[in-house]
Amino acid sequence: MILSSLGDGSISLSDSLVSTLRDARSIVVLTGSGVSAESGVPTFREAQTGLWELYDPHELATPEAYQRDPKLVWEWYSWRRELVEKAAPNPSHEALADLERRLPEGLVLITQNVDGLHWRAGSRRVLELHGNIMRSKCSVEDIAVEAGADDENVPPSCPGCGAYLRPDVVWFGEVLPVGMLEEAFEAARGCDLFISAGTSGLVQPAASLPFEALRSGAVLVEINPNDTPLTRHADYALRSLAGEVLPKLVKAAFGGQVRGGRSGH
Ligand code: OAD
Repeated sequence: MILSSLGDGSISLSDSLVSTLRDARSIVVLTGSGVSAESGVPTFREAQTGLWELYDPHELATPEAYQRDPKLVWEWYSWRRELVEKAAPNPSHEALADLERRLPEGLVLITQNVDGLHWRAGSRRVLELHGNIMRSKCSVEDIAVEAGADDENVPPSCPGCGAYLRPDVVWFGEVLPVGMLEEAFEAARGCDLFISAGTSGLVQPAASLPFEALRSGAVLVEINPNDTPLTRHADYALRSLAGEVLPKLVKAAFGGQVRGGRSGH
């Protein structure tokens, strides 16, 4: 493992890493909430701020919590939606969207994040493993549907069947979208470079993806200022903020202005 980090917090990129990115024919990037942290969206295991500091997210992001108190859960997600709506994509999101433009068929972006910031930055080949907080779905029919404009109920009701709506996200104990998960594992098996950025690597099945890539012979890069269970398995462990290193890495490998990087336009 090549550990890259300079004492002053800046990051040095080895030539071998840059050429690995440049020469890769199939890249998978797995992102977690650390990538959105620089947009002001709290990471998942960060102490909840404001009104919700008394609540453990594990007590809110579960079907049982929703059955017990749908109003509380809906209000917690409304609070998170407002955070996300105020947030903007940061240089990490921009650099990954830029990378997709340079490798339209060569990059699959898998995210655990539900904030939709990759899409807003311009990424289109995105697998949202845990859903998207900006979408709602019927809690009975399990179809994506939005509340009627004049529905003031909390939670609102499904216009079709009248059942409560819920956020279109995966809760603890729920299964991920099956087809999407298979697509993610197939991409991990077929890539020659796997980049894990901004995730603690603690939640399955997403946490197994980098190991699937390693088993298939991929080079593994981790971008995280802290250690994770993945760090010791990584070929390159970049102890840095994703917003610092991703624009640099894409620019070093492909040249040109990286939108959202320091000298971005
Ligand atoms: P966590 O909060 O578990 O981990 C965030 C990781 O990002 C930590 O390892 C931080 O060190 C790192 N980090 C923080 N700021 C960073 C930055 N600027 N650049 C790079 N890394 C940074 O969040 P996730 O790993 O995303 O699932 O959590 C995974 C899943 O656990 C979530 O999707 C959610 C939760 O249960 C569901 O809700 C189903």
